[in-house]
Amino acid sequence: MATQIIQSAAATAAQDVGMGRVLDRVQQAGAQDRPHVVEFQHVTKTYNAGLANEFTAIRDVNFVVADIPDKGEFVCILGPSGCGKSTILRLIAGLEPQHPATRGNVLVFGKPVAGPAADRGMVFQDYTSFDHRSVLGNIAFGLECQGVDRRERNELACHWIGQVGLNVATDAEKYPHELSGGMRQRVAIARTLILQPRIILMDEPFGALDPQTRMNMQDLLIQLWRAVEATVFFVTHSIEEAVFLGDRVYIMSTGPGRVMKELEIEPADRPALEMARVPRFQETVYYIRDLIAQLEAQANAESK
Ligand SMILES: Nc1ncnc2c1ncn2[C@@H]1O[C@H](COP(=O)(O)OP(=O)(O)O)[C@@H](O)[C@H]1O
Ligand SMILES: [Mg+2]
Repeated sequence: MATQIIQSAAATAAQDVGMGRVLDRVQQAGAQDRPHVVEFQHVTKTYNAGLANEFTAIRDVNFVVADIPDKGEFVCILGPSGCGKSTILRLIAGLEPQHPATRGNVLVFGKPVAGPAADRGMVFQDYTSFDHRSVLGNIAFGLECQGVDRRERNELACHWIGQVGLNVATDAEKYPHELSGGMRQRVAIARTLILQPRIILMDEPFGALDPQTRMNMQDLLIQLWRAVEATVFFVTHSIEEAVFLGDRVYIMSTGPGRVMKELEIEPADRPALEMARVPRFQETVYYIRDLIAQLEAQANAESK
């Protein structure tokens, strides 16, 4: 709970910027009566540790996403290419070689991550559907693995085809090569949500889509997320996307990756296309743009 998270007593107060509130520091875990959804405690990841090509992707990353009853938060991780966004996401997912962390603790619902599990579902940027399976077969795949019988899993898959805005009559038997990029990502989202994960991990899922399709997908995602009450971690390098989608935005910088700033953002009250024209929305976007430029300049100066 917010009151149980230690706030810095420093004089620098939180600052309101448009639709956002820039916290005076990235929140860390304090005493708690219920486990946090996700907690990073001094997490460092060094790839190829001990070898000549060892590389530290993230260093001493700390943050905490609190558990809010009956409502998951939408958390966006924003930062330049190579700053360690996917590393953080895959550590939460428990996927190798990011998992395990080199140092520190990655906790999900208060327990150290031991590997992938059904409470966490992942949606990637690349189209990861099975080419030889239809839309229905792809969406039902996870349930099939869990041993759910054919009738039940097909019924549920048809429900989810509709939920993500596809058409059961015309799309269910299509194969991935017959689908547009937007449709494929709808399938990827349905395939993940059908398993009802409590945490949904999304790694630049709309990065390859044209701007119009991307905004439609953002609107769809917000609508689905409100219904499923899961916590979403959404990686992007689009500032507009983060401000539109996020309740909370972490801003990372490179060399090695760290979480530098945390913002709380008011929920959007209209579709993405309209939101983009709202001055308060733009104010937050411009603030973050300047902040990232500043962080990059700082990182460059430090590396010289
Ligand atoms: N398996 C790996 N082995 C070695 N280096 C890696 C590996 N995965 C990522 N890296 C490096 O770690 C850094 C962070 O990667 P990543 O988390 O993918 O960043 P982002 O998703 O922000 O673009 C990059 O410099 C990348 O080249
Ligand atoms: Mg990445």
